[in-house]
Amino acid sequence: MKARKICDRVDLVGAVDWNRRLFDSLIPLPDGTSYNAYLVWGSTKTALIDTADPPMADVLMRQLEHVKYVDYIVSQHAEQDHAGAIPHVLEKYPDAMLLCSPKAKDMLIDHLHVPGGRIKTVADGEEISLGDRTLKFIHTPWVHWPETMCTYLPEDRILFSCDLFGSHLAVSRLYAGDDPHVAEAAKRYYAEIMMPFRKLIKNNIAKIEKLDYGYIAPSHGPVYDKPELIVNAYREWTSDKVANKVVVPYISMHGSTEIMVNYLVSSLAEYGIDVQPFDLTATDLGNLAMALVDAATIVIGTPTVHFGPHPNVFAATHLANSLKPKLRYAAIIGSYGWGTKAGEQIAALIPNLKVEVLDTVLCKGLPRDEDFANLDALAAKVQEKHAGLA
Ligand code: FEO
Repeated sequence: MKARKICDRVDLVGAVDWNRRLFDSLIPLPDGTSYNAYLVWGSTKTALIDTADPPMADVLMRQLEHVKYVDYIVSQHAEQDHAGAIPHVLEKYPDAMLLCSPKAKDMLIDHLHVPGGRIKTVADGEEISLGDRTLKFIHTPWVHWPETMCTYLPEDRILFSCDLFGSHLAVSRLYAGDDPHVAEAAKRYYAEIMMPFRKLIKNNIAKIEKLDYGYIAPSHGPVYDKPELIVNAYREWTSDKVANKVVVPYISMHGSTEIMVNYLVSSLAEYGIDVQPFDLTATDLGNLAMALVDAATIVIGTPTVHFGPHPNVFAATHLANSLKPKLRYAAIIGSYGWGTKAGEQIAALIPNLKVEVLDTVLCKGLPRDEDFANLDALAAKVQEKHAGLA
């Protein structure tokens, strides 16, 4: 893509990665992603905010071919998808200074071997003049690493937010508008990347809402020309409110666990509870993460493999624990052939979830009447705990 204008003095550069399907060798990218960088043209100085992932550095460098001077490179976040092309840009502009938060300095040196002498750290609230344009730096830790910061351009009312408010979405158009596809991609992104930092995000939103911005320009996905939509969505996702919803990630090897899952789904549905089962062999983990954004309860379903849970259930449970969704309750269901420690092992995997474990219902072989009765009792317990939830 060529550089695209957001306004007279700001160009969107960087790269659209249409074909990438996995991030961090973990996160599915069904819609690709983008690494947005922004050129800000002041009357006396020019700044480049963020860069691009190393495999796409050439795209950015081609966009900069006709840019004679860059005075400042702003690194809002040291992760390689935004900082990875910094060494190329520093080489092209030998007089440019790299601006970053104090915590980012060592990270940029460690991860990219940037010479320390090219780095100038900026304090929270510090401003840099580009002549008739100003960059104001807002430290916003943990969105998504401890060193992250946003940059505010008051003259054009643009907040550059890097990972915060981003979406892994490759699109040719510039603006998000109120497209529900963007909203869904942003929710998936929040669930996969931002959710573990929910409480810290609240602090950062409180900080940026004091700014008068008309656009939010993240470093992934389209630019928000109706920024209140994404900020309000984040307010909702990061709130303590949970929905009358149960998420059931599971795997079944010979059918018993699936019979139990289907039975429980039906019992919960009879109470009017929204239930979302996820066969982990047939869904990507992003769908599960999204469902966990506001669910009140997780029920983990697993068969027994060598006395423990199925390894893929083990991995998904570990991931759910690390994403720290605002769940309040959990339960474990499943099956075994001759003996099992699956329940204890799953329960030990979720210390971060701060949930009340309501029950463990495991059946030997195919479920019998007593197992279905236990599932009915579990559904009744969930209903009781969910009383009052919308
Ligand atoms: Fe888009 Fe945390 O990097």
